[in-house]
Amino acid sequence: MRILSGIQPSGRLHIGNYFGAMRQHLALQAENEAFYFMASYHALTTVQDPKELRALTIGVATDYLALGLDPKKTVLFTQQDVPEVTELTWMFSCVTPMGLLERATSYKDKVAQGLMANHGLFAYPVLQAADILIYLADLVPVGQDQKQHIEITRDIAQKFNNQFGEIFKIPDAYILEETAVVPGIDGKKMSKSYGNDIGMFEEGKALRKMVMSIVTDSTPVEEPKDPETSTPFLLLKLMASPGELADWEERYRTGGMGYGEVKQRVYELLEETFAPFRERRKELEADPDYVLDVLRDGGLRARAVAHTTMEQVRDAVGLPISYKPAP
Ligand code: ADP
Ligand code: TRP
Repeated sequence: MRILSGIQPSGRLHIGNYFGAMRQHLALQAENEAFYFMASYHALTTVQDPKELRALTIGVATDYLALGLDPKKTVLFTQQDVPEVTELTWMFSCVTPMGLLERATSYKDKVAQGLMANHGLFAYPVLQAADILIYLADLVPVGQDQKQHIEITRDIAQKFNNQFGEIFKIPDAYILEETAVVPGIDGKKMSKSYGNDIGMFEEGKALRKMVMSIVTDSTPVEEPKDPETSTPFLLLKLMASPGELADWEERYRTGGMGYGEVKQRVYELLEETFAPFRERRKELEADPDYVLDVLRDGGLRARAVAHTTMEQVRDAVGLPISYKPAP
């Protein structure tokens, strides 16, 4: 199967990105043909400092490699290395009803947060559809917040196919229920843009301080507590063994346990889970040329697929290029 997903390089990655999406990306690479990319054109809707955007883009690539992406097998690339995707975005724009985009919740949320709405932000799901469909992907592993974007992608593919012929596959979202929404320190969905995130490569005192600041209710130590609505428990669930988790659940329900104890365990598990990735990341940081080589190679492999799709698309809409483009 062909797997595809993207991550915006719009800030440092957090454990919600890992458990909600990247862990699945890495697990799926062994048995499938996987394509993962830095959605840098998407990030441009909000990050408009060139130095920062460049550094964040290389940073996310380094994160992927540190987490265990195998660049020989999996195609890791930056969105801008396949400029055909913006050409396809235009073609999709011409079959996308305004109403479909007006209903997009991520756009509405960003506007509600006070972000100045540029056209890129409004057209964001059309670019995302082009990202997915140009590679004829079967499955798109993402967190819950991207569900609607995949539905819009499916709609756009169907509209295009109805009008111009069956070119695009209709992809499915792959969302794991257990990790679909990882909560942040305030209990709301963890997000770079809400300032409630725990960085994936955070360690030591800073990490502990973050974990200790997780918001909990004021139930006294001796009273029973509900684990399923408690952020530290939900984070524990992502990392603890089933046996250990059952013990904590019991302790929540019986009472006599303070939230400080659970938080301490969350902190320890985060240190353990991410320690090997942090080590690998430090090695990669010392070898930026290696990361750039991986991206160059991935860009060429991704572009070759996009190129073939676009030749069919241009023909289908009646706009073939009138000269043979230089390779
Ligand atoms: P953010 O919301 O922090 O800006 P992105 O939109 O860049 O994160 O998300 C990258 C990937 O990580 C997407 O697949 C998204 O669904 C997933 N993801 C982000 N935050 C969470 C979360 N809190 N829980 C589960 N998955 C998440
Ligand atoms: N919108 C996605 C996010 O914010 C990033 C993204 C861009 C993406 N293109 C994609 C995800 C294609 C999956 C497939 O997380």
